[in-house]
Amino acid sequence: MSEATCMGTGTQVSAPLAQTEDTGTAAFAATHPTPAEARPLAVRVAAIHQVAETIRAVELVAADGKALPGFTAGAHINLKLPGDLSRSYSLTNGPQTRDRYTIAVNRDLASRGGSAYVVDKLAVGEELLVDPPHNTFPLVEDAELSAFFAGGIGITPILAMIRQLEALGRPWKLFYAARNRTSAAFVDELEALEAITPGRVHLHFDAEAGKVMPLLKLAAGIPKIAHIYCCGPSKMIEVFKASAGWRPDENVHVEHFAGTNARPTTAFDVELKRRGLTFHVPAGESIMQVLMDNHIPVAHSCREGVCGTCETRVLAGVPDHKDNVLSSRERASNELIMICCSGAKTDKLVLDL
Ligand code: FES
Repeated sequence: MSEATCMGTGTQVSAPLAQTEDTGTAAFAATHPTPAEARPLAVRVAAIHQVAETIRAVELVAADGKALPGFTAGAHINLKLPGDLSRSYSLTNGPQTRDRYTIAVNRDLASRGGSAYVVDKLAVGEELLVDPPHNTFPLVEDAELSAFFAGGIGITPILAMIRQLEALGRPWKLFYAARNRTSAAFVDELEALEAITPGRVHLHFDAEAGKVMPLLKLAAGIPKIAHIYCCGPSKMIEVFKASAGWRPDENVHVEHFAGTNARPTTAFDVELKRRGLTFHVPAGESIMQVLMDNHIPVAHSCREGVCGTCETRVLAGVPDHKDNVLSSRERASNELIMICCSGAKTDKLVLDL
């Protein structure tokens, strides 16, 4: 199983389970810039649409009018917002569109500023910086069947995946649950897809049905050869995981909404190789916090081990991974670490910073 964090409120986390593990990510990591190394892009808000009661879709184009860096279905971007806020949001458009990034943001009642700004204040014409797309919830494009379970704003990465499978002519099914019709996003578009090929889109509104979506029963009807995906609230993900025990691990893909509160449990030293500096990280503290306390700038967004922004290369030592981003293969490689939450199993870690 691969696990990551969904990004629609700015605090979601997705974890791709196994296809990342099968595609040589460790070797890729050695040559590819980490999200923290990527240079931010200047974008302009081209359009804003209300797509549900509390959800706005925002279309971003390059401020210089050129094409934007490409991405794969399931990817997210980190949006830099006023007040030194950085929030991660899944891209909802298909990777065929190179002229814009489209995100959908739910106004989180417990917003710490990110979703409140995007939904209440962001205006057409405004310019922002975003980090280039990063994918921690990738799609297996050649699966014989793909089945998606989405809850609420968890539809966002899955919509991009469906668009990509439509473009490729590959088979898929969607089970999308929301509290009621007005809180569900992109319903018109999903119903239009259902009209083209009936039997693919299953919408479930708790208020109309008088109960939550029967995920266990629905998942049991999906053939074993299918790749199945879930992005939604933690209760939904728990049920989804419980339903998937009989499937090949590499066919099961999860993206979480919430991050981890985990922190390193033992003390260790961290050496920043490029700066020639070493710091002590006390038990219970994060590497990121120690670096920030020492005025070392570090790229970050969620600070909960879900967005991948703080991904950093490990040059020596063994990380104690606490994040929801890296696949088990990436973890085993000891080449990458999320410094906002993960610690060390060795007395010292040497980082490429
Ligand atoms: S994973 Fe988001 S800041 Fe570390």
